[in-house]
Amino acid sequence: MLELKGRSKSATVYPLQGMSLLDMAMKHDIDWAFSCSRGTCARCRCQIEEGAEFLEEVTDAEWDRLEPSELEEGYRLGCQAIIKKNAGTIKAVNRPYF
Ligand code: FES
Repeated sequence: MLELKGRSKSATVYPLQGMSLLDMAMKHDIDWAFSCSRGTCARCRCQIEEGAEFLEEVTDAEWDRLEPSELEEGYRLGCQAIIKKNAGTIKAVNRPYF
């Protein structure tokens, strides 16, 4: 399952392969911050509390936009973090900088 925690709303939904965490949040009306949807604004930043292995690799945009320490702490950009095939439990919390 996919647990998404937005700024005031959370939901547990079925993870769909090939969708980004931001896509899933929008699909389920979760108030997930975002602006650009292409990996530059970082408004969609989120921390993966569980199941990072069920997401595709960190993208070039994320390497450019996030600090190495953030990547180590499990941060991803919601618009760049794509759900893999046969995903297990993923927990993601939207944590924009402001
Ligand atoms: S929405 Fe801008 S980086 Fe994801």
